[in-house]
Amino acid sequence: MSPFPVLLGNAATHIDAELSRILDRETDRGTPPRLVSAMRHAVLGGGKRFRPFLTLQSAALFGVEPSFAQTAACAVELIHCYSLVHDDLPCMDNDELRRGRPTVWKAYDEWTAVLAGDALQSLAFEILSAPTGHDNPTIRAELVLALSCAGGAGGMVGGQILDLEADKLQVGPHGDIAHITRLQAMKTGKLIAVACELGAILGKASPEDVKALKIYGDALGFAFQISDDLLDAEGQTEEVGKATGKDAAAGKATLVSLFGVTEARHHLDQAIDQAIAALERFSARTQPLIDAANYMGRRTH
Ligand code: IPE
Ligand code: IPE
Ligand code: MG
Ligand code: MG
Ligand code: MG
Repeated sequence: MSPFPVLLGNAATHIDAELSRILDRETDRGTPPRLVSAMRHAVLGGGKRFRPFLTLQSAALFGVEPSFAQTAACAVELIHCYSLVHDDLPCMDNDELRRGRPTVWKAYDEWTAVLAGDALQSLAFEILSAPTGHDNPTIRAELVLALSCAGGAGGMVGGQILDLEADKLQVGPHGDIAHITRLQAMKTGKLIAVACELGAILGKASPEDVKALKIYGDALGFAFQISDDLLDAEGQTEEVGKATGKDAAAGKATLVSLFGVTEARHHLDQAIDQAIAALERFSARTQPLIDAANYMGRRTH
């Protein structure tokens, strides 16, 4: 059995190739070169592809046709990449380094970064709703519905508002674990959870299986953001590929700022256990998802 980073790396190679093909089509259909170039910068050349991995592995639980799983996996990654492009803007986190390279606004400019993010979001829904997403249009509509809910006001975008309100306006109870948990569930958890849910939708999973995967995805998403916050507090820029120590400087509301590193790590471990426990009802093919959860406790980038 390969160690998890190898498994993740292999999936990333496939996803990278598919994302590159998807972006090549932009050139083929005459999209303005500056926009294609910024979109490529945002999507290619780095990225763990953790969310696509989850979609592929969740779909594998139900024996989904690989090309459909791959399209859904790419759609989630495009939404994630768009969220990063906007997250890095000067008006948001004001970051200059992402995946070890200049952020899109830094490499181009702000207006190009805003538009590249917008275009990536549209592209995600385009590939998911096209016939290549699934041969059954009802399934395609369910995929689009799930991804739009996770990425929108009730999910990632709403979570980003709560995050930035806390940091820029000092709005929201900083010392309140319920508030921070909700903020993190929205800004990061929903996209991680939907990465799993898309596999279940593609596999026409039973409501019980969908529920179990949702519990897994929610717990994993929570663990993911705590580990991201720990990397910000403890990691090295060279390894993490982005500036560290910025959350404390910006006054971000995180479990690390609330409880400190040791207690935050305790919450992380609990979330990992909860995620793994949710997989018990599946009889086979869960090992990669178990490994993905355990990886949250020791990732270094
Ligand atoms: C970083 O996500 C942003 C968060 C939601 C915490 P990742 O750590 O998955 O970033 P990449 O895609 O690997 O660069
Ligand atoms: C970002 O959270 C979550 C998104 C929705 C993009 P962070 O702001 O902590 O992510 P990084 O640390 O910049 O990757
Ligand atoms: Mg942010
Ligand atoms: Mg950020
Ligand atoms: Mg962070």
